[in-house]
Amino acid sequence: MTAGELYSLCLSALKESVGEDYRFDCDCLFESIVGLDRVKRITKGDLTVSDTVCEKLINAVKSRANGEPLQYILGKWSFMGYEFFVGKGVLIPRPETEALVLRADEIIKANKLSTVFDLCAGTGAVGLSLAKLNPDCTVYLFEKYDEAFSYLQKNIEIFSLENVKAVKCDITDLATFDVSLLPLADMIVSNPPYIKASEIPSLQREVLKEPFTALSAGEDGLVFYRAISEKWLPLMSKNGVFLFECGDGQSSDVISCFDGKVKSFEVYYDFNNIDRVVEIHV
Ligand SMILES: C[S@@+](CC[C@H](N)C(=O)[O-])C[C@H]1O[C@@H](n2cnc3c(N)ncnc32)[C@H](O)[C@@H]1O
Repeated sequence: MTAGELYSLCLSALKESVGEDYRFDCDCLFESIVGLDRVKRITKGDLTVSDTVCEKLINAVKSRANGEPLQYILGKWSFMGYEFFVGKGVLIPRPETEALVLRADEIIKANKLSTVFDLCAGTGAVGLSLAKLNPDCTVYLFEKYDEAFSYLQKNIEIFSLENVKAVKCDITDLATFDVSLLPLADMIVSNPPYIKASEIPSLQREVLKEPFTALSAGEDGLVFYRAISEKWLPLMSKNGVFLFECGDGQSSDVISCFDGKVKSFEVYYDFNNIDRVVEIHV
């Protein structure tokens, strides 16, 4: 089959089953598997594609049509301009989380912070980006689940940075690891699970393929903010700062999890005008 024929076949299969981004998805899969970008595909459309490659692409398209996230099929995804390994068992880094990283980076640089904890690290998108941008700052990345932790380790290996440390633990239960080995944190940054249990069933089919443990945060979506407020404050240095991602309309509830401990706070809005980042000074 020629590249042009194969592309048309995949495009029409995806048009039926994927939303409005079907062309983008088709281009990404085609480039990743056939190795021809958009320009080459157009200019070399009559190149013959081997049966093995055709079969590989058709299988990938079938999988995408059945609701597998594009990012899991590609195995890599870009965040803050860096590539992260992703796949089943780990949350796909979202563009809106870049707002959290950008604000954290600003604070680290302005105050020359030396120690940052990234709680609920997943792929390491947040913590590794910060470590890359701030070589003089040591970033500890905390993650509980095996599959997510293995992606974290893989990404740490690729980033090859001296200033990162991964800790496998349950951040809601400090007895699961030796906290005495940790320095005090100048900043705790976290994009924890924050979806209310009642909202999980109505999530997009692609999101439902991501780990439940990366999404679900109890009845009110606040389990992790509460746990962090209760347990991690003693692990902060004087004038420490918390920086959280939260869901649409959650910022005031997140702040109230820190009742009586807050010196000042700030809420930042993302490109969709959603209250996405909460900064709390304690
Ligand atoms: C919303 S995802 C965020 C991942 C990553 N920080 C990002 O922004 O792409 C939350 C992460 O928290 C991890 N997690 C859930 N419960 C945890 C716990 N009790 N302790 C540590 N990590 C946990 C999940 O496995 C998941 O990787």
